[in-house]
Amino acid sequence: MRTRAAVVREAGQLTIEEVQLAPPKQSEVLVRMHAAGVCHSDLHTLRGELRAEPPLVLGHEGAGVVEAVGSSVTRCKPGDRVVINWLPACECCPTCLNGRHNLCERLASTTFKALLIDGTTRLSTAEGMPLKHMLSAATMAEHAVVDEAGIVPIPDSVPFEIAAVIGCAVATGVGAVINTAKALPGVPAAVIGCGGVGLSSLLGCKLAGCNPIVAVDVLDSKLAFAKALGADLTLNSSTVEKPARELRGLTGGGPEYVFDSVGSAATIALAVNAVRPGGTATIVGLHAAKQQVEIAAGALVLQNKRLIGSFAGSIRPRLDLPKLLGLYQGGRLPLDGLISKHYPLDALDQAFDDMEAGNIARGVLALAPQA
Ligand SMILES: NC(=O)c1ccc[n+]([C@@H]2O[C@H](COP(=O)([O-])OP(=O)(O)OC[C@H]3O[C@@H](n4cnc5c(N)ncnc54)[C@H](O)[C@@H]3O)[C@@H](O)[C@H]2O)c1
Ligand SMILES: [Zn+2]
Ligand SMILES: [Zn+2]
Repeated sequence: MRTRAAVVREAGQLTIEEVQLAPPKQSEVLVRMHAAGVCHSDLHTLRGELRAEPPLVLGHEGAGVVEAVGSSVTRCKPGDRVVINWLPACECCPTCLNGRHNLCERLASTTFKALLIDGTTRLSTAEGMPLKHMLSAATMAEHAVVDEAGIVPIPDSVPFEIAAVIGCAVATGVGAVINTAKALPGVPAAVIGCGGVGLSSLLGCKLAGCNPIVAVDVLDSKLAFAKALGADLTLNSSTVEKPARELRGLTGGGPEYVFDSVGSAATIALAVNAVRPGGTATIVGLHAAKQQVEIAAGALVLQNKRLIGSFAGSIRPRLDLPKLLGLYQGGRLPLDGLISKHYPLDALDQAFDDMEAGNIARGVLALAPQA
């Protein structure tokens, strides 16, 4: 079939164009996409800053309706509303059996190379050049073919756009707090970076009962979103000489937990320097993904600090995505405030521009008329 998609032919080159999509194979599902979140990982991928190389179709946060299923599919049927999960774990390798589905052993040779889990692709350009599927998902399109391992059904009461952002930003941001750092209530926390992921960590800190919660960003416009979502205090780190000292001052000795959704050399150092002795700095952002980063070893050791990475919020998708959907339905995760703007697929470049300029919290592509 033909469908429209956000295509990256070469690093830095984005086009919205008609592509060919082959039918789902045995264990695969064809989804009519309704919503796709715009994540900084899409922008990193467009620019060639992560592992997946073009040519590919972008997108990994998304939700829609199943249109067709392969002969062996059991997890969903045509007409089901689903969220696409970009961690199609095998659930049977030793790592999955250890509960680390986010690190499933088959992801490295398939998903992280932008292939479906059988190592192939169903997408190609109109003239027949094969296109890969970002994170086995390729959700920035009107239709997507994914393996059923990458599908989680959603209740009728959850809007597509909410399910879409739960698929990456919320899973990553809340998961970093709840699953990776296992944050406890009543202690100070800070989030560095107030995009979709960092604001989700802020909501995760609220859910965990951290107090007070400080939001840090270099843009006042982003701090305003954090305030609206419940940050107790804010810090524009570009306006102070020593942001770590400011953070320690605001929290009576430093946050117990810092969640860095920027992940640059400077913010990783800030996270480690700011946490109180015995505290935990959790790094989520990927801005320094291909770099070596210096940290103050003395402070780490002598102050008994923990520095940990968090990939995909340490989630087990089939267990944790329904939990997050339930927390939204129960009013515990006010995600409506996370989505600040909708765009048609053709305006994806504008969404990226707005994300970088700090005009939006999370932007979402509306991919079907009723989304
Ligand atoms: N670990 C994971 O599994 C995972 C999953 C999804 C996304 N990510 C990564 O998380 C990062 C954030 O994603 P996003 O979609 O929220 O991005 P975003 O661009 O929407 O938000 C980033 C925020 O950080 C702020 N910022 C930039 N530099 C800063 C600095 N030096 N100090 C303080 N704030 C600064 C920006 O103003 C912005 O508000 C990206 O690198 C993305 O690739 C990681
Ligand atoms: Zn993402
Ligand atoms: Zn596995």
